[in-house]
Amino acid sequence: MNSDTHLRVLGISGSLRKASFNSGLLRAAQQIAPERMEITIFDIIDLPFYNGDVEAQGDPESVIALKSAIRDADAVLFATPEYNWGTSGALKNAIDWASRDREEGSLMGKPATIIGAGGRAGTARAQMQLREILAETGSVVMVKPGVLVQAFAPPRFDSEGNLIDEETKDLLGRHLDEFTKWILRLVRPHEFARYACEMDTPA
Ligand SMILES: Cc1cc2nc3c(=O)[nH]c(=O)nc-3n(C[C@H](O)[C@H](O)[C@H](O)COP(=O)(O)O)c2cc1C
Repeated sequence: MNSDTHLRVLGISGSLRKASFNSGLLRAAQQIAPERMEITIFDIIDLPFYNGDVEAQGDPESVIALKSAIRDADAVLFATPEYNWGTSGALKNAIDWASRDREEGSLMGKPATIIGAGGRAGTARAQMQLREILAETGSVVMVKPGVLVQAFAPPRFDSEGNLIDEETKDLLGRHLDEFTKWILRLVRPHEFARYACEMDTPA
């Protein structure tokens, strides 16, 4: 498949820890993504806190890199942990920086979706909050079918944060299939009808 037909998806994890389950979800997504979807992961660990004074002097390197990675992508896949019923401060901060980009290809109008791994609620509350935040950025967020992973019982990740649960992989795969259609519908509508038809036709 030539690169023109690929859908470039940028994965952003809201957790900074090395063995993060959410970063693990993104790595699993890279492995099981549909053939035409290519997922690149952007690490937000180097972003400073948003500060209008810093911004006024010119974006730091890490912010330039984030904005450019978003512009280069057809869509964004957010993986959020849940901290005190909300998304992480780190992810909110990354979105605050990214939302300051007014160039073509910024978060405004960008197809996006949210997945998450956390405690008993599987990040339901964090995902709801993130949807509200993304509404203000103008991103067009796909909600269903949804990936809300209860990380601990039974354990669905190994000690390095790799996803080891087959059921969760299937769920993630279904979500990415739908996300492919969502992106096509928004960015390449002429290809969408053909793709949806191929997916619905048994081989
Ligand atoms: C400060 C803090 C607050 C948390 N609050 C919640 C919470 O409100 N709901 C929940 O389900 N899990 C909560 N957790 C558990 C995290 O969701 C869990 O540690 C998750 O694994 C973090 O994601 P990560 O593995 O990607 O780092 C909290 C963890 C921390 C450190």
